[in-house]
Amino acid sequence: MEKGKIIFEKDYVKGNIDKRLFGSFIEHMGRAVYTGIYEPEHPDSDEQGFRKDVLELVKELQLPIVRYPGGNFVSGYHWTDGIGRKEHRPSRLELAWKTIETNEIGIDEFADWSKKVGTSIMAVVNLGTGTPKEAAEMVEYCNHPSGTYWSNMRVANGHKEPHNIRTWCLGNEMDGDWQICHLTADEYGRKAHEAAKMMKMADNTIELVASGSSSPMLDTYPEWDRKVLEHLYNDVDYISLHRYYYQEENMTIGDFLLSYLDLNKFIKDVITTADYVKTLKRSNKTMYLSLDEWNVWDMSKQWEIEEWKPASPRIEDKYSLLDALVLGGLICTMINHANRLKMGCLAQLVNVIAPILTEKGGKAIRQTIFYPFMHGSLNAKGKALNLRTDLPKIQSKRYGEADAVTVAATYDEEKENIVLFALNCSQNDDIRIDVDFRGFGNVKVISHTVLDGNDLNAKNTFENPNTVVPREMKMVNFDTSDGIVIPKMSWNLVIFKNII
Ligand code: AHR
Repeated sequence: MEKGKIIFEKDYVKGNIDKRLFGSFIEHMGRAVYTGIYEPEHPDSDEQGFRKDVLELVKELQLPIVRYPGGNFVSGYHWTDGIGRKEHRPSRLELAWKTIETNEIGIDEFADWSKKVGTSIMAVVNLGTGTPKEAAEMVEYCNHPSGTYWSNMRVANGHKEPHNIRTWCLGNEMDGDWQICHLTADEYGRKAHEAAKMMKMADNTIELVASGSSSPMLDTYPEWDRKVLEHLYNDVDYISLHRYYYQEENMTIGDFLLSYLDLNKFIKDVITTADYVKTLKRSNKTMYLSLDEWNVWDMSKQWEIEEWKPASPRIEDKYSLLDALVLGGLICTMINHANRLKMGCLAQLVNVIAPILTEKGGKAIRQTIFYPFMHGSLNAKGKALNLRTDLPKIQSKRYGEADAVTVAATYDEEKENIVLFALNCSQNDDIRIDVDFRGFGNVKVISHTVLDGNDLNAKNTFENPNTVVPREMKMVNFDTSDGIVIPKMSWNLVIFKNII
């Protein structure tokens, strides 16, 4: 068996983990909303038409924040279409995804759903066809207590208490030509600056996210981020980045597993760009990052779509064990950047490239990616530790030499839990890792959960929903002196307890 070593030092810390690092995303797209979270005709729906089976699965993820309502959808969406009496709401051609949007769900219903699952909202305003005025009015509608035109309308619509939405994104992927009313960096920077001003005039307690590069593959990257931040540095608290991975043609399994190295570089480069603007502006303010769309998404697949139908399916990827392992690597990278990466949204949550899949009128299941994501969202708390590692190496076509195991660790002082997240990319070897805890008390292993299997293509289906599920390793000895064995091609969550 190959061997490695990890040193955990209590005071050697990368940064505090923001509790919004493992959020998710619901877009009015495909069946995310209609027949996803909302299906009044479903036998297991509540009085508002929300699917209770989906509510329960979402609750398992303990999401801190959910981005809403888009996505590409938002750039043609007028939020006022989704308020008031349902029978008066317009059905519209939804141009981004070529469907019909019935507007049965709008911001009020989504706020109710968020309460039910115990999450907060990251609202996105329309800076495509929308105006700064419309964005500020949405802030007023959601956050102003009452006594004004828009806040009174919210009260009249049955929501006496404000929704109190703290985090707002200034548009979505405005760098992409596919975006409705796409803008150049300077045009976006100007428009977003005016929107930010008006939105903060309406509520100066909100936090704002600038729309950064939607992929490092675009020609405009990283100039987009530089220019946009030159306009918005004083207005915003975060710059967004979006990134999706799939096994491209001729890409080896090994390279696919190492996708986290690409994410690592993307995050570092956006930090560098933001810090350049900080220097340019002689600013003391540090810009944080919001990875508010990320996932595995097989973009090589052509989906047959039925156009101009409400709730017609879009990109309902069926995830394999291999996809779940890749996602685990991305989780480690996110934790390892906790000092600057404060928010993240797994895109998306239900049906559309999602950990939860539903049948119209039927079941809801957990896809393979549900598990590593849940491990991150439930366990990455407190501080991200700066580990010192000595690990066996693997060779990759795309990335050269890399650690066979990618790791991240967190320390939750409240619970005295130290959590190790590890992805073994080695296709041949289990790896025994010696663990050395410095500055801690007596450290014991509490549990070791593994996601692996013989068939990397295995998927969970409605007929067999538990084909790919994590297993608990039998902890023969709760001592750490024997080290931890990380099986080949596996995702691992190891929880240690610091006994003082
Ligand atoms: O998440 C699916 C789509 O991917 C979103 O609508 C868009 O923002 C991104 O390109």
